[in-house]
Amino acid sequence: MNNLGKQSNILITGICGFIGSHMARQLTRLGYNVYGVDRIYRHEQICEDIFYGLDLTADNAVVELTDLLNKYKINIVIHLAALIQVGEGEQKPDLYYLNNVDGTKNVLEAMRIAGVKQLIFSSTAAVYKPVDMTDDDGDELKSDPISISPRHTDHNKYRDLMMPPVSILKRTLKETDPVDPISVYGKTKLRCEQIIKNYCDNYSFQAVIFRFFNVAGGKEIYKKPIHLIPILVQKIFMKETFTIFGKNYPTRDGTCYRDYLHVDDLIEAAVSAIKRWDRLVFMHGYNNIGDNLLSTMLTEQVTIINDSNTNGDSPITVDQSEKNEEDIVLQNSDTNLNDEEVCKILGDPDVESSLFRVYNLGMGICFSVLQVYAQVGSHYQVDYADPDEKCRFGFEFKDRRQGDPPLLLANVMRAQIELEWSAKKCLDAIITDTIRNMS
Ligand SMILES: NC(=O)c1ccc[n+]([C@@H]2O[C@H](COP(=O)([O-])OP(=O)(O)OC[C@H]3O[C@@H](n4cnc5c(N)ncnc54)[C@H](O)[C@@H]3O)[C@@H](O)[C@H]2O)c1
Repeated sequence: MNNLGKQSNILITGICGFIGSHMARQLTRLGYNVYGVDRIYRHEQICEDIFYGLDLTADNAVVELTDLLNKYKINIVIHLAALIQVGEGEQKPDLYYLNNVDGTKNVLEAMRIAGVKQLIFSSTAAVYKPVDMTDDDGDELKSDPISISPRHTDHNKYRDLMMPPVSILKRTLKETDPVDPISVYGKTKLRCEQIIKNYCDNYSFQAVIFRFFNVAGGKEIYKKPIHLIPILVQKIFMKETFTIFGKNYPTRDGTCYRDYLHVDDLIEAAVSAIKRWDRLVFMHGYNNIGDNLLSTMLTEQVTIINDSNTNGDSPITVDQSEKNEEDIVLQNSDTNLNDEEVCKILGDPDVESSLFRVYNLGMGICFSVLQVYAQVGSHYQVDYADPDEKCRFGFEFKDRRQGDPPLLLANVMRAQIELEWSAKKCLDAIITDTIRNMS
């Protein structure tokens, strides 16, 4: 254990969720002092000692949270609490805005009052404008199916043959790419990013925004899983047919490509961000870690990266001056912006500073739904040629779902360089751990 890490007292919101509970366990193991809030206590997820029941949208949320931050001398907040189901968000947009956006505002207010300035925020790949899947003539890329189906028993052969074509692999999402979410869920997350940016600009908050791609490898909290890999595992247990939405996407096998990330790798990225902050505190102490100093140090780091010109990002400018009260009032009125204005602000490649930094977290590799299906099947030695097996683990196609982009693939260069992080666990490890955690 690195001595530096011992300096951090961390509060996790959404600690009883899938990611929050893994994060709490791992950070505790690493020697951090971890506390957490959630509106629902799930004893199978987290031990009671570090848990505080609180709904972040409650009337008393700011007061209670401020008390907790002060009581435990918290210096870093990891804000994970949110409603996360895309379909539900479309049906209940008001609830999603209230829970995710107002909840985030309350967290930020409590942090401001308690003088806590370091925030890690869980955003999502769903904030990006869907990738353009047209060729130079403006036609949608043709699906390029290879005449092999997952019913073949040789899964490795299937997986290798089905690697995405170069035309797809070039279409990764960079942090500087345009944002324009097509789901209510994505919109609420982007809105949170914008409000967090205001706090960075006006109160010198230091925020790391992680845009997670498809996180898996653990146990979901929902009785009916909502993510692909847990759904597949449950379908096998229940001997139910698996539904694939859309078979005519412009991909190799006609099904969507997604980038999967093991929850342990995600936590590694958070640890990396925390250690970077800890190093600064260790060198200069909490009281002397002036905002200007922090900005300067981070800027030096960022400048080196930009000089290396590896990911084509724009140079980063740092405004080190504290804003006066009048500016703050003006800036905070930004929270009333409409969705289009928010997209414009956060889609500007120059929007970031060393105090507000966005990172994609994914594997940087994508797999089609059919590939994942075949890979999960291989764990159960499913012989797709056997009609009984087909029945046990069959699939059916249904129409495309509204709001499902054909491709979500992360460009992870920035996290690799600045956080010295990369995903280590492959799809197979993700599936193995999902099965183990669900058993
Ligand atoms: N799981 C993924 O693949 C994925 C991908 C992209 C982004 N994310 C983001 O990561 C974060 C964590 O995701 P997860 O998969 O662990 O979700 P989850 O649903 O398992 O956990 C979320 C937790 O937040 C709590 N919560 C929700 N609203 C709350 C409120 N108002 N007050 C207090 N607690 C509240 C819930 O009770 C739950 O325990 C979310 O912000 C999500 O948007 C997840």
